Amino acid sequence: MSIHHREQKNIEKVISHLKNCKSILFITGAGLSADSNLPTYRGIGGLYNDEHTEDGIPIEEALSGAMLVRRPALTWRYISRIEAACRDAVFNRGHQVIAEMERHFPRVWVLTQNVDGFHHRAGSKNIIDIHGDVHSLCCTHCNHRRNVEDYSTLNIPPQCPSCSALERPEVVLFGEMLPPDKLFQLEKILYEGFHLVFSIGTSSLFPYIVQPVMEARALGTPTVEINPDQTDISQMVDVKITARAAEALDAIWSGYQKAMGINPTSGFNGSDT
Ligand code: OAD
Repeated sequence: MSIHHREQKNIEKVISHLKNCKSILFITGAGLSADSNLPTYRGIGGLYNDEHTEDGIPIEEALSGAMLVRRPALTWRYISRIEAACRDAVFNRGHQVIAEMERHFPRVWVLTQNVDGFHHRAGSKNIIDIHGDVHSLCCTHCNHRRNVEDYSTLNIPPQCPSCSALERPEVVLFGEMLPPDKLFQLEKILYEGFHLVFSIGTSSLFPYIVQPVMEARALGTPTVEINPDQTDISQMVDVKITARAAEALDAIWSGYQKAMGINPTSGFNGSDT
């Protein structure tokens, strides 16, 4: 993978920030998994770009908590499509670099909006998946919970193996609250603070995604955005890298390893782009 010459200076800046760094927060969005060929929500090829689904309703309505109650089969149809896209894909070099950096630096956290579970599969441990994970299912009636590898063996909409009521994925649907335990955990890690904050592949629409970047900036903590496009935070970060997530993270990590005389890591198991 090669990074455009014009970005090299920005990559160098990030590497110099990493040299004295003990704690890093990675905020990630659909753009990171776009490098695994998953669709994003907005922008080119985005899931929400078509105004209506084939069922004649907006996708936000199909994927809402209210619709799951009213017409579970319909909501499950669109959830299954998200899962099917994940099933056909694997984590990429960007997810892998973040996991490797977690093993190298004393304290690394991932705050992800992605429901694909790729950070987990790539080996990251400290993950707040604030919008959940399509692979975690829970019963809408009893307390039964389970993790599934994929949906290939499920009858959609699936029934609880314990009480036969409707199951749902543990994801935040439109109109639903964020999980309080995850919000609490997020508050805690932000309170403890970070030496470096990355925002990667997100359109930065939600306050809980923008706020950690703003708070870091207010405290004088360096902030980095990796996104080929401009977002509301692009003007506010210290370093803006307009490259794809996987190639930018790979360039940063290999540049850092070289600068520190560390043997570069290989052993990549996911898909490279
Ligand atoms: P979006 O689809 O809103 O934004 C994706 C961002 O990634 C855009 O800013 C793109 O420019 C950027 N991008 C595209 N390809 C990229 C690449 N290869 N490398 C880096 N960046 C790239 O996705 P999110 O911000 O994650 O919520 O969306 C946030 C939430 O909106 C989702 O989690 C979902 C949706 O409603 C729920 O489902 C609850």
